[in-house]
Amino acid sequence: MEKITNITSQAWEILEDSIIYFYDRPIGTVAASDRDTPSLNYDQCFVRDFVPAALLFLIKDRPEIVRNFLTNTLKLQIKERQLDFLEPRRGLMPASFKVIHQGEDQYLQADFGDHAIGRVTPVDSCLWWIFLLRAYVKATEEISLAHSPEMQRGIRLIMELCLSARFDMYPTLLVPDGACMIDRRMGINGHPLEIQSLFYTALRCARELLLNNSENEKTHLAINSRLAPLLGHIRYHYWLDLARLNVIYRYKSEEYGENVLNQFNIYPESIPYAELSEWLPEDGGYLVGNLGPSKLDCRFFSVGNLMAIISSLASEKQADAILNTIERKWQDLIGFMPMKVCFPALKNRDWHLLTGCDPKNRPWSYHNGGNWPVLLWQLIAASLKNNRPEIGKQALEIAAKSLVRDEWAEYYDGKNGRLVGKEARKYQNWTVSGYLLAEALMTDSQYLSWISHEEL
Ligand code: GLC
Repeated sequence: MEKITNITSQAWEILEDSIIYFYDRPIGTVAASDRDTPSLNYDQCFVRDFVPAALLFLIKDRPEIVRNFLTNTLKLQIKERQLDFLEPRRGLMPASFKVIHQGEDQYLQADFGDHAIGRVTPVDSCLWWIFLLRAYVKATEEISLAHSPEMQRGIRLIMELCLSARFDMYPTLLVPDGACMIDRRMGINGHPLEIQSLFYTALRCARELLLNNSENEKTHLAINSRLAPLLGHIRYHYWLDLARLNVIYRYKSEEYGENVLNQFNIYPESIPYAELSEWLPEDGGYLVGNLGPSKLDCRFFSVGNLMAIISSLASEKQADAILNTIERKWQDLIGFMPMKVCFPALKNRDWHLLTGCDPKNRPWSYHNGGNWPVLLWQLIAASLKNNRPEIGKQALEIAAKSLVRDEWAEYYDGKNGRLVGKEARKYQNWTVSGYLLAEALMTDSQYLSWISHEEL
């Protein structure tokens, strides 16, 4: 118990030190406070990284930092239609920002992916932003913030960006590679699960927050007509368990017409049956990583699966099966640090072709099968949501064993996550806040209602 208290107080100290101020007002936290490694952009506040810290500040009754974050990032959002095609699109939220001092003046400099390594588009930022706004409203009951004309416009612009007419005909969101937490090339372009789960959550949050007035009428209509098809599409086409595997295994290909079984023309040879039929637990299952023409990416992606549970994008039965998979495949998915960002790793020619030979993303490292302690809070939220607190409790205990010793590393390498990541930052803030948030959720599960949704 004393050990846990030490961890908690050290974590709080690190978190307090990481707060960024804008004209003396707290506005966010830096990504990492590692003094031994060049900061690159880790001295900036990332929208996705700040989410667990923000939720924690709300729990600790310190909403002002979250309010400042929400209102200032909203100001950074692109508001005008861009004529120049090298500019970010209207509605986009930045991946990160930093405070620039210019004499007496200060301003925020945003990165919309236009500076980021690989020039990746931060599609998830605007989705996390709506998620956080809704959590803020739930926590503070200050609905007036979300109802202000600026916030309403911000939500509308995000929805416009996500819901506008596009070329493809699925209800899911089409995005380039590296558009989310995995912000490097990892073969996740197309319709990756993480984006779909966040998209679904954001739609649910926007529906709750947008006023019912004439200005919002079209947006409400667009949201309402998207939710059910998106839910049906993911629950059916992304679901994989032994029964589904059997069906896919015997798929016929080249079927033409409206009522065919193998709609996406998945070639059974492309599915790693031998591994999956051995690996999948009898009572398990999960949502696959991606789906497209002749493409079913069978990797297990944690954020997508956990957020699908939290948002009720996965049905209750599916959520239970996902948690069974985690429980039965503990060594693979949790190992020595909860938890794997994705499983299994891309190897050999797959690594070559899909990552472009990325040395940081070698098999079982970083995004390619590394273990990320930040995922702990989502694991705990998902396990509480489905009444499986023992999973969360055990995971929390495992994390508590090494986080202080490893100076709050960003990620871990190796098949079981036993090595501190080769290039992992120390004092990574979402590792710190993720742990504290996990602990807070575990102590009082009432906070779950700020971040979760019930069945539609
Ligand atoms: C890495 C992660 C990304 C995170 C950033 C800052 O680029 O892949 O998800 O936001 O570091 O911590």
